[in-house]
Amino acid sequence: MHERAASTIRKAEAFIITAGAGMGVDSGLPDFRGEHGFWNAYPAYARLGLSFAECATPQHFSNDPHFAWGFYGHRTNLYRNTIPHDGFYILRKWIERNNADYFVVTSNVDGQFQKAGYADDRIYELHGSIHWLQCQARCNNAIWSNEEVFLVDETSMRARDPLPLCPKCGKVCRPNIFMFGDWSWLQERSRAQSSAFNLFLRKNTGRRKAVIEIGAGTAIPTIRSLSERIGWKKHTTVIRINSREPLIRSPHISIPSGALEGLRCIDELVSMKLM
Ligand SMILES: NC(=O)c1ccc[n+]([C@@H]2O[C@H](COP(=O)([O-])OP(=O)(O)OC[C@H]3O[C@@H](n4cnc5c(N)ncnc54)[C@H](O)[C@@H]3O)[C@@H](O)[C@H]2O)c1
Ligand SMILES: [Zn+2]
Repeated sequence: MHERAASTIRKAEAFIITAGAGMGVDSGLPDFRGEHGFWNAYPAYARLGLSFAECATPQHFSNDPHFAWGFYGHRTNLYRNTIPHDGFYILRKWIERNNADYFVVTSNVDGQFQKAGYADDRIYELHGSIHWLQCQARCNNAIWSNEEVFLVDETSMRARDPLPLCPKCGKVCRPNIFMFGDWSWLQERSRAQSSAFNLFLRKNTGRRKAVIEIGAGTAIPTIRSLSERIGWKKHTTVIRINSREPLIRSPHISIPSGALEGLRCIDELVSMKLM
């Protein structure tokens, strides 16, 4: 399997990297796999008996903004302080070696690909980004960069004052992320990225494409379905790297391992042939 993956990568003229929360695990970030994954990462919510879906709803920003920013402020700090693991750089190395075109599609809101030096205009963040803000009441369509500082009490998971405000209406603002039961997410930023991605796909029609999917789960299968849909195109092979849910139908390739370990193993083979 690793040899077939290496051969696909050696020949690729365009790379599509599709990533879920599992991509960040080897950088020390939690995935939210199952209730227990979420509660292990956030014991305060286990004590309150609240699931990920119950914490990640826009209503908290109007009903209890200190609670809402407790969750998102903590995550903002965490993602700001995280150093992307070597796997991010192995992928970049392959793109550069092949002088290939590329695009990243991710449901992660953590900004780790930008941090690892991927070009901002080659990233499609399906669910938005924690590093951008918007008004909770949609009083206007502005989306602005999150430069706020967050102080969060880790026992109660509540944010301390001051909370970030919408400069127009003065209400507490929220991250520009698609949440559960969310009717107020401003999609313009993500939509523009989606258009750029579709343009990339059109430009690369007929080229040999490698879709490298990493750490995308089945609970919210958006990334997995997208990889599989792209995999129907001609000259396209999907390599699915996932420690717990690696299955994908042949001729696509399943790598049952963690992101970093899987990428390193494949890289050894890719580099060998190029020497
Ligand atoms: N970092 C983030 O931005 C972040 C983190 C958690 C959740 N979310 C949000 O929650 C939703 C979660 O969906 P999801 O499918 O991305 O995550 P998920 O937590 O449901 O699933 C994670 C997947 O990664 C796999 N995995 C775990 N550790 C791995 C590793 N070391 N290497 C490779 N694979 C590994 C698991 O088997 C699983 O299939 C998304 O919509 C996303 O917006 C975002
Ligand atoms: Zn406003």
